[in-house]
Amino acid sequence: MPKLPTTLIDRFQRRVDYVRLSVTDRCDFRCVYCMAEKMTFVPKPQVLTLEEHFQLAQAFTELGVRKIRLTGGEPLIRTDILTLVKRLGRLPSLDQLVLTTNGSQLQRMATQLRDYGVKRVNISLDSLQARRFRQLTRHGHLDQVLAGIDAAVDAGFERVKLNAVILKGRNEDEVLDLVDFAHGRGIDIAFIEEMPLGRIEEHDRALSLCSSEELRAIIGQRYSMHSLGEPGGSDGPARYFGLPGSTTRVGFISPHSENFCHLCNRVRVTAEGRLLLCLGNEHSVDLRAILRQPHFTLDSLKSAIVEAMALKPERHHFDNEGEPQIVRFMNATGG
Ligand code: GTP
Ligand code: 5AD
Ligand code: SF4
Repeated sequence: MPKLPTTLIDRFQRRVDYVRLSVTDRCDFRCVYCMAEKMTFVPKPQVLTLEEHFQLAQAFTELGVRKIRLTGGEPLIRTDILTLVKRLGRLPSLDQLVLTTNGSQLQRMATQLRDYGVKRVNISLDSLQARRFRQLTRHGHLDQVLAGIDAAVDAGFERVKLNAVILKGRNEDEVLDLVDFAHGRGIDIAFIEEMPLGRIEEHDRALSLCSSEELRAIIGQRYSMHSLGEPGGSDGPARYFGLPGSTTRVGFISPHSENFCHLCNRVRVTAEGRLLLCLGNEHSVDLRAILRQPHFTLDSLKSAIVEAMALKPERHHFDNEGEPQIVRFMNATGG
């Protein structure tokens, strides 16, 4: 076998040093922009075991990956997830173990996650009104999530960030309340433009899109924001702004109105072990097949990952009109 590299570089000279691992496609919520009302989930035997997730993380870190984000579905409803977190937290060359969650389980898990080495937590929050929160998440309880956010703040993560997807006519009127909420707690908030992943019947995505520019104008009515630089780099695709005299940063993730693919440093692995080279394209490699070979070796996994870099597409095309080209739902990729 040829000598394996210690960094991952794609055809466009982008260095991939960040992996988002979806540990389950299941979730205790059914957010209207993420899932259909009735979902079929991956049968359990097809989902990677925690040991297989760990082997993936090991392979990626040996290939120069420095940041791993655990996502879902909802990662914290995966049975025994803390045992995986604990092992990942001890991987020698992993600088940033981070998590994206809906917050429902944080009240009971935040402290342990922090103790096991999770540095930052991103928590979805689209509404501060209990009934509306319920409508948007279909199953969620606002109180539980707010208690989870407080638990995360108390646990002392390096950073806590809220994620809000704003939909026209649904929660557009809460933008300032959400910024006030983050500001009051000294935590960050990012507003995400809805992306056309999976076919949903619930609303028309073309009509509901609220652009980052519109949101900036709304926030500008109450806060004077100063730019903290260009998207890309360690902050990923978000464009961040600071608020005067506050540690709170307000971010905008704008896949429609701003293309940041040339800065992309990340790949994703689905709960079934499919390596996805881009959020907005179908190019993928089945890593589970390698993990489950009778004579599995870490080097065979590493070489499949290295070869997969040649498949990473130049960019996504979310801005095209019409039907989504990506039929998988967001819960399959973890965002
Ligand atoms: P960092 O990458 O650590 O900065 O976190 P993040 O804010 O990207 O992660 P999070 O899981 O909180 O995701 C927030 C939103 O950003 C989700 O809707 C993701 O789908 C979206 N997102 C993350 N990475 C990408 C990307 O590479 N391209 C696009 N278009 N969206 C992304
Ligand atoms: N478009 C944009 N963001 C989405 N999320 C889930 N589905 C979509 C979508 N179709 C967000 C969630 C969560 C993050 C990981 O992805 O709100 O905060
Ligand atoms: Fe679950 Fe997150 Fe999807 Fe909502 S957006 S249904 S919380 S995976």
